[in-house]
Amino acid sequence: MPAPLTDAFITNLPKAELHLHIEGSLEPELMFALAARNKVAIPFASVEDVRAAYSFTNLQTFLDIYYAGAAVLKTEEDFRDLAVAYFDRVAMDGVVHAEIFFDPQTHTHRGIPFDVVAAGLFAGIDEAKAKHNMSVGLIMSFLRHLPEEDAFETFAQAEPWLDRLIGVGLDSSEVGNPPSKFARAFAAAGDAGLMLCAHAGEEGPAEYVHEALDVLHVDRIDHGNRALEDPALVARLARDAMTLTVCPLSNVALRNVDRLENHPIDRMLDLGLRATIHSDDPAYFGGYIGENFRATAAARNLSREQVVTLARNSFLGSFLDDETLSGHLASLDAYVKAG
Ligand code: ADE
Ligand code: ZN
Repeated sequence: MPAPLTDAFITNLPKAELHLHIEGSLEPELMFALAARNKVAIPFASVEDVRAAYSFTNLQTFLDIYYAGAAVLKTEEDFRDLAVAYFDRVAMDGVVHAEIFFDPQTHTHRGIPFDVVAAGLFAGIDEAKAKHNMSVGLIMSFLRHLPEEDAFETFAQAEPWLDRLIGVGLDSSEVGNPPSKFARAFAAAGDAGLMLCAHAGEEGPAEYVHEALDVLHVDRIDHGNRALEDPALVARLARDAMTLTVCPLSNVALRNVDRLENHPIDRMLDLGLRATIHSDDPAYFGGYIGENFRATAAARNLSREQVVTLARNSFLGSFLDDETLSGHLASLDAYVKAG
């Protein structure tokens, strides 16, 4: 008899978070506390009101609310509190390594200096590393609805922090803003020694995944769901062991997948893709990484082996050095053997 797949096994399974927007971990309770602390007016009467507003019909309807919510973040302490709350939460989800995104332009465009954002986030990251024995990397994401020149300006503001950042990403409104729009900014980031990732094929076509690979030369694809529409692209991604950071609860919340029971995560694995499971914006989409794993495993009736493969892929897709990676894989194997 194979060992049963329990929620506890999935929750405590060692895993890496590779697709998380820190601004998307802003829970309504913290939003209210920060609004009061900073005397920022928010258009909601209660925490329940905020949650009730979280009903999306596509990526843009979410982004509008997500950028509005970020307005309560003003001081270094706010960004520190946001990060600490996230790491405290996922320490309970078996996360031993996290590579998280932040969107500097969301804040610099409302007058918050880049240095305030970065100093606050790194303060939270340093606390979390010590408290939870977790390793953490920070990825600076460019907003793709803004011009490439704006990304270059942001890159210049990031200069004093570059040795502490592990990579750059590309997010926000996908359709109409193809990866090729950021060819020069990504080339500069690559020249600076940063790892490269881009959201592609979340709402946008498979062609955007091709562009992320061919024009941006990314090391990792965020989402990638619509690559499934292009068999030659699937073969290429499988052959190259290109990691796809898939976010099932996000896909359903943003209506890219009609229901979790129809999510293609196991089809991706069957096709030989290096797919992993992550949370995207957990405060908005109904669950952190543990809930994404548990709910998807239940909805798709995943086997224990498939769940372990998804966790293994999260480490294989990380930007960790070989030695640290091998340590995490050994811990994962030991956990599986013991459980
Ligand atoms: N920013 C935060 N979450 C995002 C998502 N799912 N897609 C694109 N941009 C985002
Ligand atoms: Zn995302």
